[in-house]
Amino acid sequence: MKGAESGKDDYSEYDTPHLIMTYTALLSLAILRDDFERLNKPGILKLVRSCQRADGSFTSLPNGGDSDLRQVYCAFAISSILDDWSGIDVGSAVKYIQRCSNYEGGYGQSPGGEALGGTTYCALASLYLALSQSTSSVSPHLSPEERTRTIRWLLQNQTPVGGFSGRTNKVPDACYCFWAGASLHILGASEYVNVTALASFLSKCQFKFGGIAKAPEDTPDPYHTYMAVAALALYPPEGADKSYNLPKLNALWNTTEDTAEWIRSHIQRRS
Ligand code: FPP
Ligand code: ZN
Repeated sequence: MKGAESGKDDYSEYDTPHLIMTYTALLSLAILRDDFERLNKPGILKLVRSCQRADGSFTSLPNGGDSDLRQVYCAFAISSILDDWSGIDVGSAVKYIQRCSNYEGGYGQSPGGEALGGTTYCALASLYLALSQSTSSVSPHLSPEERTRTIRWLLQNQTPVGGFSGRTNKVPDACYCFWAGASLHILGASEYVNVTALASFLSKCQFKFGGIAKAPEDTPDPYHTYMAVAALALYPPEGADKSYNLPKLNALWNTTEDTAEWIRSHIQRRS
């Protein structure tokens, strides 16, 4: 691996390891029920370590690339999937997350940024994943006041048509039904979501030949289709028919509970 630790290159510009792709690859392998026999755990931890910067944030590549809450979330998710947090200075990463907190109650992409539904999910999921390990010198807990104002901002983004918008005063978008819905779920505030209106909005985003779009009358794509289905797995409408019988979702890893259990038994409980 290139970088401060080894001082030499063992990847090229065409196969540079990438934090977001590593998180995605681990989940994809688990979904495909790989046995993880060939998992290079020390190599992945080395990647995570080489991506953290002095301010606690993470770059997507060992020597640079984007740096915002998305990379922080991927570093936390990878560490929790591997059940090994030795690649992260959790205390400084938590401080960085807290600096992204915005006056509205959500979290911006980076410090000083506008509150966004997607990055608010990244912040909250990271903090709650960190709660599962205890080596941090900084408490990843939210204060009751922080929790309340984040819940209030998220709920304000559920629009009258039922879908969530990603930012104050924007139109609803199917993907934020997951990012905001999962955030509320993580905060233990699911009961305040209007599940009937949410399902009504998402059903209107369906395309007549299949797939789900970001908004009614829009063109469907795999990203919004998955996000809408994931949101419905967290928030099935009351009294709904069997078509809403979706597998239980793990909101912190964004995978089904079955896949989460596969990870636990094939990566974490491996001797
Ligand atoms: C604004 O988009 C949104 C962002 C710049 C980032 C949103 C972050 C996520 C969706 C989380 C991704 C998570 C991982 C783990 C990679 P925009 O200006 O196009 O639109 P919008 O605010 O109107 O939605
Ligand atoms: Zn979207």
